[in-house]
Amino acid sequence: MGTRIVLGWILLALALYCGLDPFNHSSISGFPNFVSVEVKLPDKYEIPTNKDSLNLLQNSDVKLLGQIQGPESLVFDPNGRGPYTGIADGRILFWDGTHWTNFAFTSANRSVCDPQPNPLGYIKNEHICGRPLGLRFNKKTGELYIADAYFGLMKVGPEGGVATSLATEAEGVPLTFTNDLDIDDEGNVYFTDSSAQYQRRHFMQLVFSGEDGGRVLKYDPVTKETTVLLKNIQFPNGITLSKDGSFFLFCEGSIGRLSRYWLKGEKAGTSEVFAILPGFPDNIRTNKDGDFWVALHCRRSWTNHLLAATPRLRDFLLRLPIKAKYQFMVFIGGWPHGIIVKYNPEGEIVQILEDSPGKVVKAVSEVEERDGKLWIGSVLMPFVAVYDLGSSSR
Ligand SMILES: *[C@@H]1O[C@H](CO)[C@@H](O)[C@H](O)[C@H]1NC(C)=O
Ligand SMILES: *[C@@H]1O[C@H](CO)[C@@H](O)[C@H](O)[C@H]1NC(C)=O
Repeated sequence: MGTRIVLGWILLALALYCGLDPFNHSSISGFPNFVSVEVKLPDKYEIPTNKDSLNLLQNSDVKLLGQIQGPESLVFDPNGRGPYTGIADGRILFWDGTHWTNFAFTSANRSVCDPQPNPLGYIKNEHICGRPLGLRFNKKTGELYIADAYFGLMKVGPEGGVATSLATEAEGVPLTFTNDLDIDDEGNVYFTDSSAQYQRRHFMQLVFSGEDGGRVLKYDPVTKETTVLLKNIQFPNGITLSKDGSFFLFCEGSIGRLSRYWLKGEKAGTSEVFAILPGFPDNIRTNKDGDFWVALHCRRSWTNHLLAATPRLRDFLLRLPIKAKYQFMVFIGGWPHGIIVKYNPEGEIVQILEDSPGKVVKAVSEVEERDGKLWIGSVLMPFVAVYDLGSSSR
């Protein structure tokens, strides 16, 4: 009886604390209009059950450990040199085969961008230092195009330096969380803006709200206009053109799905579901054969199904005075699972590589295939991993 009363008081105090937030500890204290909405996840039978029971991704060679923090995108220039990558302190680095050198910046003001002990330490000043996410070279001009989470769509010449801005808004609405891009043969840029309300440094609020202000956009290099191709999407993330340029695929981060947008043919201008993913995606890249490598943050778990269906539970978790790291752990089902998946142009899984305990590779952001190797980056981790496809050839 006594313990029940004590427990009752503790629960009441916790409920009051979360409801009133007297010390502004809650992650949503800065967001008076915060609302969380339902995320409609696919039905169980639609979710692929493919597994890599050998955990082959553990055979990756983890390179450059500790040297760079949070390399999200990895890209090679038109001469095959690189990779180049954008890291947590806002720099874009170039790997010359033996070491990293500075290549470009998205912010000229680097007075508050000093090294931090881990990638999360940079979040405080990201909006000043910039956070380059998706990177792609224009193969004809050699210019590097950058999706900077804070500064929008940018580009820098083949010599590097400070990038110039190409787009910071579309149809009167500012870009809030520019995420990834691809470029077609005419130089048109297709890119994603993940949210209309939450910047990248408010990632947890975006994920927990299920907000659907994300957009897929097109920048025309001739008119310099940005048009909205699709809107009202929950967390659009990676984007990639098909090998023949007839369509692009983009990742829907909240639902865990790939959608296809047709650029050519009779379906041009329309979109459709391409595939339901086994987890929650970040970037997607097309390989030389026209297949698509999708990087997943984590596999689906019962916790994210429960959270998706119960906005009030997400709201409650976000009000708890705990670190964003723990909220994120609950969301991803307890631990970061390493998982990457290859799809063919028909939308079928043709390869899956995992590190299910996340021992070597976890929280993957991007997979870039080059000369029989997969270059693997992670926005959260201090490494670049390289997986030799020869070691798993079937
Ligand atoms: C919490 O935020 C509110 C509204 O911004 C403010 O009025 C209040 O003084 C803050 N409380 C503390 C303890 O900082
Ligand atoms: C650079 O950013 C810092 C921090 O926001 C600011 O205090 C400083 O005035 C800026 N410097 C310039 C030259 O804009």
